[in-house]
Amino acid sequence: MRCLLFLASLGLVAAENGLDGWLRYASLPCSHQCQSKLPASIMLLNVTETSPVYAAGSEIQDGLKRIYGAHAQISQIQCKTSSSTVVVGTVEQYRKTCGSSSEIPELEEDGFWLSTEGPKIRILGSTESGALYGAFEYLSMLAQGNLSEVSYATNPSAPIRWVNQWDNMDGTIERGYGGPSIFFNNGAIVDDLTRVKQYARLLASIRINAVVVNNVNANATLLTPENLKGLGRIADVFRPYGIKVGISLNFASPETLGGLDTFDPLDPSVISWWSNITEQVYQHVPDMAGYLVKADSEGQPGPQTYNRTLSDGANLFARAVHPYGGIVMFRAFVYNQLNESNWTEDRANAAVNFFKDLDGEFDDNVVVQIKYGPIDFQVREPASPLFANLLNTSTAMELEVTQEYLGQQSHLVYLPPLWKTVLDFDLRVDGKPSLVRDVYTGKRFKRKLGGSAAVVNVGTNTTWLGSHLSMSNLYAYGRLAWNPTDDSQTMLQDWIRLTFGLDRTVLNTITKMSMESWPAYEGYSGNLGIQTLTDILYTHYGPNPASQDNNGWGQWTRADHIGIGMDRTVSNGTGFSGQYPDEVAAMYESIDTTPDDLLLWFHHVNYTHRLHSGKTVIQHFYDAHYTGAATAQTFFTQWESLKGKIDDERYNHVLRLLDYQSGHSIIWRDAINNFYYNLSGIPDTANRVNHHSWRIEAENMKLDGYKTYTVSPFETASGSMAIVTTSNETVGTATTKINFASGTYDLAVNYYDAYGGQSQWQVYLNDNLVGEWVGNGEDVYSHTTSIYLDGHSAIRIKFRGVEVKNGDTLKIVGKPDGIEPAPLDYVSFLPEGIVD
Ligand SMILES: *[C@@H]1O[C@H](CO)[C@@H](O)[C@H](O)[C@H]1NC(C)=O
Ligand SMILES: *[C@@H]1O[C@H](CO)[C@@H](O)[C@H](O)[C@H]1NC(C)=O
Ligand SMILES: *[C@@H]1O[C@H](CO)[C@@H](O)[C@H](O)[C@H]1NC(C)=O
Ligand SMILES: *[C@@H]1O[C@H](CO)[C@@H](O)[C@H](O)[C@H]1NC(C)=O
Ligand SMILES: *[C@@H]1O[C@H](CO)[C@@H](O)[C@H](O)[C@H]1NC(C)=O
Ligand SMILES: *[C@@H]1O[C@H](CO)[C@@H](O)[C@H](O)[C@H]1NC(C)=O
Ligand SMILES: *[C@@H]1O[C@H](CO)[C@@H](O)[C@H](O)[C@H]1NC(C)=O
Ligand SMILES: *[C@@H]1O[C@H](CO)[C@@H](O)[C@H](O)[C@H]1NC(C)=O
Ligand SMILES: *[C@@H]1O[C@H](CO)[C@@H](O)[C@H](O)[C@H]1NC(C)=O
Ligand SMILES: *[C@@H]1O[C@H](CO)[C@@H](O)[C@H](O)[C@H]1NC(C)=O
Ligand SMILES: *[C@@H]1O[C@H](CO)[C@@H](O)[C@H](O)[C@H]1NC(C)=O
Ligand SMILES: *[C@@H]1O[C@H](CO)[C@@H](O)[C@H](O)[C@H]1NC(C)=O
Repeated sequence: MRCLLFLASLGLVAAENGLDGWLRYASLPCSHQCQSKLPASIMLLNVTETSPVYAAGSEIQDGLKRIYGAHAQISQIQCKTSSSTVVVGTVEQYRKTCGSSSEIPELEEDGFWLSTEGPKIRILGSTESGALYGAFEYLSMLAQGNLSEVSYATNPSAPIRWVNQWDNMDGTIERGYGGPSIFFNNGAIVDDLTRVKQYARLLASIRINAVVVNNVNANATLLTPENLKGLGRIADVFRPYGIKVGISLNFASPETLGGLDTFDPLDPSVISWWSNITEQVYQHVPDMAGYLVKADSEGQPGPQTYNRTLSDGANLFARAVHPYGGIVMFRAFVYNQLNESNWTEDRANAAVNFFKDLDGEFDDNVVVQIKYGPIDFQVREPASPLFANLLNTSTAMELEVTQEYLGQQSHLVYLPPLWKTVLDFDLRVDGKPSLVRDVYTGKRFKRKLGGSAAVVNVGTNTTWLGSHLSMSNLYAYGRLAWNPTDDSQTMLQDWIRLTFGLDRTVLNTITKMSMESWPAYEGYSGNLGIQTLTDILYTHYGPNPASQDNNGWGQWTRADHIGIGMDRTVSNGTGFSGQYPDEVAAMYESIDTTPDDLLLWFHHVNYTHRLHSGKTVIQHFYDAHYTGAATAQTFFTQWESLKGKIDDERYNHVLRLLDYQSGHSIIWRDAINNFYYNLSGIPDTANRVNHHSWRIEAENMKLDGYKTYTVSPFETASGSMAIVTTSNETVGTATTKINFASGTYDLAVNYYDAYGGQSQWQVYLNDNLVGEWVGNGEDVYSHTTSIYLDGHSAIRIKFRGVEVKNGDTLKIVGKPDGIEPAPLDYVSFLPEGIVD
C-alpha cells in the first residue's frame, strides 16, 4: 500500500461536474500513521458479483484508492488472518464462516455494526444491504479524514425509506429541473442505464431501499410487456445496491390498457386483471417493492368513480401484491374543488375527512403516505393532523426534495430545518407524547410498517437536481429517513465535507449560507403561515399572491383590504384546528396561543393585528421581505469568498445561481410588499415599500423602437409597467440622463426572460459598452420558465463597480427574438451597501 502524493495534488485542480455527488472520494494526504490504519485487503463474505456485499467491496476498494492512493485486494474471507483487512458481509454469513460473534450487538433489519478497532475492520449487516450501508459509512469517515477507532451499531428508524420519481414515460419529469429522465424516453425505458447505476450508488449510500420510478400521475403504458421487460432491466441495475424498484399505477388501467369496460375495484374482472398484471410485473421484477397509488386526486381516476371507498381501492392492490411480499403506498393527497364563498370550506380538512373513518379498514400491507402538511409542500405548514387520526393504519411521511414551491432548484433552500418543524412536532394523541416522527416510524401506535418517501426529481444533468447545492437536501433526506433525530447542521456538514472538501472556510461558509436559506426564503416569500404565495395556477415558482384566491383549489389567503388569513378555528371558521388532539387543538384555536409563524394559517386577522413579537402583521410582512432579500444578497458574496477553494466548474455553476437568486429575491420582496401595500393601503413605517430612489423606470426613459407594456400581475413590475419592442423585428433603444452623484455603483438591470425567444441586450454609458447579455435563462437556470412577463420571468443582471458621472447618458439597446420582445423593467444605480 502506498500513498500516491501526486494524485492528491491532481485532485485539487480537476474540474468536477457533480456526477459523483457526495461520493467523490477526493484525495487526501495520508501520513504514515494514516497509512497504518488502512486495510491491505478486503475480505468479502459473498463474492457473487451481483450481491450488495460485492458492491460494498468494490466501493471500498475504489474509495481507498481514490482517497488515499491505497491498493487493497478483494478476496474471499480467511477468518484467521494477521494482516490488516476489512471484512464485509452479513452477521449470519460471518457466524457461519468464522463462528463466534458475541461482541456484535443485536441488529434490526438492515442495521449494521461497524468496528474499526484493531487490524481487522469489520462491517457486518443484519442484511447484505446493511453491510453495504456500513461500507458507505466507513467510506464517509475515510473521505472526511476520520480514521478514529470506532465500534458501534446503527439501525433504521423504519423499514420504508423510499424515493418517488415523478418521471413520465415520454422522458419529461413533472417538477423536474435537472434535465430529462434517466429512466424513460419516448414511451419506453432507455437503453443505456449508466446513469441509473450512478444514481443507485448515491441512494444506497444514504440507505434508501426503494425507488418508485414513474410519476404518481401514472401512465398505464408502463405495464405493457415491452416496458415491463425494461423495468426488469432497471431493477437489475438497482438490485446490487440493495434498492428495490416500485411503480406508480393508474387506477383506470384495466379500462385504458386492458380494454375492460370498468375499473371498479370490486368487480371480479378488474380484480383478476390486476392480479394477472401483478403476476407479470413480478415475473420481470421478482423483488418488486410495491405500488404507489394516487387515486381520486387532482383528476386522477380512483374508486370513488364507482362509489367505492379509498380503502376498497387500496386493498385491491394490496391483495394483488400480497402473495409476493409487496406493499401499497396509498397517497392521502385527496381533495375536491371548493367554493371560496363558503367561509367554512377548507382543503386542509380534506385528508382527515376522507381517511379518518377508514382507519382500520386497510389491509396490513397498505401504508398511507401523507404529505408533511395538510396543503402541499408550502414554505411552512403545521403538521398534517392525519398523523393523529390514523391509529390503526400504517403511515409514511411524504417530503419533497424537489423544491417545487421553494425556489425550485434556482434558489438555495436547505430544507431539513423546515422538515423538522413537522417531524419533531408533538401531536399529543390521548394527552401523551406523540411526536410525528414516532407516529410514521410506527413506534407510537406499534405499527410494523412505516417510514418516509420523498419526491426526488433527478435528471440527466450532471448536477442531478439542477443545482449542486440542492444535493444537500437529498443527502439529508436519506439520513433522516434512517434516523429522524439527526441534527440538520451535522448532516449538512458531513455533506459539505464530502462534496466540497475539508477546508474550514468552505465548511463554515456553506454551513452559514445553507442554515440561513430557508428562513431567508420564508422571509421574502409567504410569512406567518400564509403559504408560499407562488403562482399556484402556473409554474409554482415566482410570486403571485392573487393566484391563491378566487378559484376552487382551496389554497386561499382570504386577503381583502382589511385583513388576511384563513379562519380555521372551530368556533368561527373551518373547524380544521379541531382535527388535532385536544391540547394541540386548543393551542391553535386561540390567537393568543397560536405561534406567530402559523398565525395566518389558523386565523383571519386585520393587517393591523399585533403579533406576539409586537409588530403588526403588515409591518412584519414588509420587514421580513426586506430582511430575507438582504440575506439572499449575502449568499452570492459569501460564495465569492470561496473562489479558488472549490473547482471552477462547480464554483461557477453555483455562483451563477446565487447571483440569479439575489436578483429574484428582490423581485419576490417587491412583488409581495407591493401587493399587500396596494391591498391594505397601509404604508411601511420604514418608508421603503414603493419608494425606490436609486431606480430609473424603463417606461420613464426616452424610447425608440420600444413601447410601454402593462405587466400582469401588476406587482411583478416596478411601477407595474415595463417596456417591450414595438415588434419582434424592431431593435429598441431606451435612453436617459443620469442624475446621481458621480461615483462607483453596482448597475442592476431588471428585465424579463421568457421562453419562446432569446433576446439580446446591451447597456451603454455615453456609448461605452458596460455589458451585454442574452435572454437564455430557460437553458441556464433550474426552474419552470414562463412565456409571459411575470414574477417567473422577471430577472436581474448586475454589473458591479461601474464608474458613473452625473449627467452621463444611459442607453439600453434591446434586440427581440422570436416572441420575446427584449422586455425591460428598470435600472438601479446602487451605491455600496444599498440593496434595492
Ligand atoms: C450472495 O449473493 C447472491 C446474490 O445476491 C445471493 O443469491 C446469495 O444467496 C448470496 N450468498 C450468501 C452466502 O448469502
Ligand atoms: C468520526 O466518525 C465517528 C463515527 O461516525 C464519529 O462518531 C466521530 O465523531 C467522528 N470524528 C470526527 C473527528 O469527526
Ligand atoms: C402515455 O404514454 C403513451 C405512450 O408514450 C402516450 O402516447 C400517451 O399520450 C401517454 N398518456 C398520457 C396521459 O400521458
Ligand atoms: C394475462 O395477461 C396476458 C398478457 O396480457 C394475457 O395474454 C392473458 O390472457 C391474461 N390472462 C388473464 C386470465 O386475463
Ligand atoms: C354513486 O352514488 C351517487 C349518489 O349516491 C349516484 O347518483 C351515482 O349514480 C352512483 N354512481 C355509481 C357509478 O354507482
Ligand atoms: C358557494 O357558497 C356560497 C356561500 O355558502 C353559496 O351561497 C353558494 O351557493 C355556493 N356556490 C356553489 C356553486 O355551491
Ligand atoms: C359550506 O361548507 C360546509 C363545509 O363543506 C358545508 O357543510 C355547508 O353546507 C356549506 N354551506 C353552504 C351554504 O353551501
Ligand atoms: C384498532 O383495531 C383494534 C382491533 O383490530 C381495536 O380493538 C381497536 O379498538 C382499534 N383502535 C382504534 C383506535 O380504532
Ligand atoms: C441541464 O442539461 C441540459 C442538457 O445537457 C443543459 O442544456 C442545461 O443547461 C443543463 N441545465 C443546467 C441548469 O445545468
Ligand atoms: C367569523 O366569521 C365571519 C364569516 O362567517 C367573519 O366575517 C368574521 O370576521 C369572523 N369573526 C371573527 C371574530 O373572526
Ligand atoms: C378590523 O378592522 C375593521 C375595519 O377597520 C374594524 O371594524 C374591526 O374592529 C377590526 N377588528 C379588530 C379585531 O381589530
Ligand atoms: C416574429 O414573429 C413571427 C410570428 O410569430 C415569426 O414568424 C418571426 O420569425 C419572428 N421574427 C423574429 C426576428 O424572431
